[in-house]
Amino acid sequence: MPTNPPKLTLHMVASLDGFIANKDNTVDWMHSTDSYPAGVTLTQEDVTEFLAGIDCYVMGSKTYEHALKLGWPYGEVPVIVLTNRNLPKGKESVELYAGDLETLVNTQLKSKYQNIWLVGGAMLAKAFLRAKLVDEIVLSILPIILGDGLLFFDYIRQEQRLHLKDAKAYTDGMVELHYEVLKEQA
Ligand SMILES: NC(=O)c1ccc[n+]([C@@H]2O[C@H](COP(=O)([O-])OP(=O)(O)OC[C@H]3O[C@@H](n4cnc5c(N)ncnc54)[C@H](OP(=O)(O)O)[C@@H]3O)[C@@H](O)[C@H]2O)c1
Repeated sequence: MPTNPPKLTLHMVASLDGFIANKDNTVDWMHSTDSYPAGVTLTQEDVTEFLAGIDCYVMGSKTYEHALKLGWPYGEVPVIVLTNRNLPKGKESVELYAGDLETLVNTQLKSKYQNIWLVGGAMLAKAFLRAKLVDEIVLSILPIILGDGLLFFDYIRQEQRLHLKDAKAYTDGMVELHYEVLKEQA
């Protein structure tokens, strides 16, 4: 059976007004207390099965440092951290990278991994989108207006056409939009 080509998915959780973090980096708003009974209920098994399909995570150094502080959610799955600093590597599964993004994705990652997730933050999302290295975008919108903070789409300054693959509303009021980034015809 033919296998699908490897893909890089950009995932971000945002407020309705497009912020991915408060100014002070607090993330308590990421846990919704809303109720939308017509929505889909996610079980722990669904989450576990979904996460098991991810082969590798990519993130910026600031997101990495926050994850270390808040509690490591990536288990033993390989994590590539982009940084120009010589950061301490708390875990065996972490690899630091500095350099060309296209080489990282197309030469190093896509030759090894099928399902690559770019999990932030804003700086990395912008750089990968601008370099046209994002194949799919999953945006989880929480029922809150933050009013200030770090913007997800912070002036990408490029038009990119998308195809809506899926849209789901959950019982906690989160809405998830799943897009494919359409590649320009040569
Ligand atoms: N809501 C969400 O889903 C979500 C997801 C992720 C993160 N966040 C939040 O977003 C914030 C962090 O985002 P951010 O935009 O400030 O930072 P970030 O994208 O996580 O990290 C930026 C850093 O990555 C490194 N970097 C970027 N491009 C590089 C390249 N080409 N080569 C080498 N290193 C490179 C640089 O690190 P050095 O300075 O070390 O060189 C840069 O300072 C945090 O508050 C976090 O909690 C939210």
